[in-house]
Amino acid sequence: MKVGAKHYRSIWYDYAEQVVKIIDQRWLPHEFRVVDLKSRDDFAVAIRDMWVRGAPLIGATAAFAVAEEMKRDASDASLDETWEVLHETRPTAINLRWALNVMRDRLRDVPESERAATAQALAQQICDEDVECNRQIGLHGLEIIKKIASTKKPGEVVNILTHCNAGWLATVDWGTATSPMYHAAEAGIPVHIWVDETRPRNQGAQLTAWEMDSHGMSHRLIVDNAGGHLMQHGDVDMVIVGTDRTTSHGDVCNKIGTYLKALAARDNNIPFYVALPSPTIDWTLKDGVAEIPIEERDGDEVTKVWGKMEDGRVGQVQISPDGTAGGNPAFDVTPARLVTGLITERGVCEASAEGLAALFPEQVLD
Ligand code: MRU
Repeated sequence: MKVGAKHYRSIWYDYAEQVVKIIDQRWLPHEFRVVDLKSRDDFAVAIRDMWVRGAPLIGATAAFAVAEEMKRDASDASLDETWEVLHETRPTAINLRWALNVMRDRLRDVPESERAATAQALAQQICDEDVECNRQIGLHGLEIIKKIASTKKPGEVVNILTHCNAGWLATVDWGTATSPMYHAAEAGIPVHIWVDETRPRNQGAQLTAWEMDSHGMSHRLIVDNAGGHLMQHGDVDMVIVGTDRTTSHGDVCNKIGTYLKALAARDNNIPFYVALPSPTIDWTLKDGVAEIPIEERDGDEVTKVWGKMEDGRVGQVQISPDGTAGGNPAFDVTPARLVTGLITERGVCEASAEGLAALFPEQVLD
């Protein structure tokens, strides 16, 4: 998407400088910093410490990590070790394992002398396919927004609530949850986005709000607990969120707090949609609550908050007593029964084994 006059992806290979570049998201919205990732450790740190984040982007970054490593050492041992090092960086987003498996499985049969070039092309392909998936998600989601807009009186807007950042910064481009919003705005449908701040790391306040602001989208930032109130008062027409892992039966794991939004949406009869590219589906799992590993992050993310100080410095402030420890489960699972529909690159389906199987019949095992 555009930042100023320039089009950016969240990750790209700079062919002139022969290096992978990312937007270091820790500094947004205050500073727009682009950094180079070179060594395997650079890539692992960037994922673990959330310089890049969002399930599809984590996968794309891991793919480039393998490609860069193959230039240094294209042996089987290096391929396996790189898989292990990257895989342990973040446990919940399944796109990480998906991308690492694609890279390892495809490279295994390629002679070592050709692995670097093949890996580079594969990583680029993973990125390009993510962009196209998200564009398709946007077009399918647009149809849902159009239907809601058709029930509105002239001058009324479609109010959409979103949680965390499932925007272009969380993918390679377009975003998942945001793609229908961007497509609606391009189609001239008046949309207004309620942006959940998304404690503890505030991906909504820092990243989604930045995206909305830089793309001229009508939006307001709300505290995480405001959604239920807004729904009770008719101020939310639909919810669209992303996901880090969705089971073959349609249970949806996403940023902590998503489940509470789904409960409030159900209580108020408001459609709750989840937008996802198919690499986010974990076909090996059924019951999300029981089976999806939930990342437990540092309690300091809860007791401290990042922001811009009055003197302009970007840093952390502590908001709780010295003796209080933070508890920090980073994701939760919304059961399929609370999800109105899954917006995928192949269309919209019910959040169920049958719904997913109808769209992705090749994934269903006998
Ligand atoms: O911890 P994060 O910032 O990586 O969590 C991101 C999310 O929860 C997103 O909603 C999810 O990855 C979907 S991104 C299209």
